[in-house]
Amino acid sequence: MPDGGARLAEAAFRSDWAALGDVGRDARSGGYRRFAWTPEDATLREWFLGRAGGLGMEVVTDRCGNLWAWTGDPDAAVAAGRAPLVLGSHLDSVPDGGAFDGPLGVVSAFAALEMLRAAGRAPERPIGIACFADEEGARFGIACAGSRLLTGELDADRGRALTDAQGTSVADAMAAAGLNPAHVGRDEEALRRIGTFVELHVEQGRALIDESAAVGVASAIWPHGRWRLDLHGRADHAGTTRLPDREDPMLRLASAITTARAAAHQHGTVATVAKVHVHPNGVNAIPSQVTAWLDARGPDPDAVRRVVTEVSTAVGSEASEESWTPSTELDVPLRDRLATLLGDAPVLPTGAGHDAGILSAAGIPAAMLFVRNPTGVSHSPAEHAEEADCVAGIEALARVIEDLA
Ligand code: GLV
Ligand code: MN
Ligand code: MN
Repeated sequence: MPDGGARLAEAAFRSDWAALGDVGRDARSGGYRRFAWTPEDATLREWFLGRAGGLGMEVVTDRCGNLWAWTGDPDAAVAAGRAPLVLGSHLDSVPDGGAFDGPLGVVSAFAALEMLRAAGRAPERPIGIACFADEEGARFGIACAGSRLLTGELDADRGRALTDAQGTSVADAMAAAGLNPAHVGRDEEALRRIGTFVELHVEQGRALIDESAAVGVASAIWPHGRWRLDLHGRADHAGTTRLPDREDPMLRLASAITTARAAAHQHGTVATVAKVHVHPNGVNAIPSQVTAWLDARGPDPDAVRRVVTEVSTAVGSEASEESWTPSTELDVPLRDRLATLLGDAPVLPTGAGHDAGILSAAGIPAAMLFVRNPTGVSHSPAEHAEEADCVAGIEALARVIEDLA
């Protein structure tokens, strides 16, 4: 790619980053709070519409609220027997998330397209750029909800009925955002249009630092899941209740946390308790109820399940499974082709979930590119990627478009 291309990629990246920089940013933490179907989410979706419109792309919303920007008529490409290449990622975040997880993939897709066009090398076949809804599951509890609903992996009725901490359902939140929740469900038309999906993402670890590479290719996504622990107790006075008389669910929470850590260590997985609701949450009242969520992942699904069983045994009640994603090996010929195309880029597995994994599990050839993260940290304000590496990611994506489209 000529230097002019790199300059254009840099300019597009800077301008989009500036446009998105303040949306949902928490002034105290410096992290982002961009949750599905909130005003911040609406602002991000508006930005997507404007960015796509500026490139002359038409945007359609699928039955589940995912956005798809198209450079041409995807159905004509499907009819001609070559379903399009789709790029993209998501714009929502975890609580106090970083700037890059999600937005980097969307911004890079637009910039790569723009760069090819400026060089007179844009493919004639339609290219899609997707913005998946509610990838993090921060508000309603199920990660990759948009792609899971799209593929039918998440049942439409269950998806609509999920509620946030205030009791607002997905159906009501989507309706308030101007969508029709009755349409939610597997969307054959949207799925037919995806010939191949390539998601560029900030790396969420340190492998590319060690490999001294700006860009890598994903091999597989670890099996992972979320479980809810409902720990009941008896509310009572913190000062007057003798220790032997207490039924304090906080002790079982403590056991869940320490058991998760020890069992993960023993079985070669990771396990995290990071979200807890304590009721009534008063300093001087023994809680009547604690709800905690366990996130467990690892290369071996049986080992992950063993960790969950040990936590259930430790707290004396069954952990209730809210989501489970099996091991996902991304399309092997595709990932090898991209790794070679990108100069023998490192090929790495990840413990993070992605929409690309959900599409892959639904039988769509999918690949991921990772952009080096010098902190190695993600789901945190410390998540970072240097501008030069972001430009390298955009250039890599442009080469992928030229190769696949
Ligand atoms: C999403 O980023 C996840 O891995 O939980
Ligand atoms: Mn994430
Ligand atoms: Mn992500």
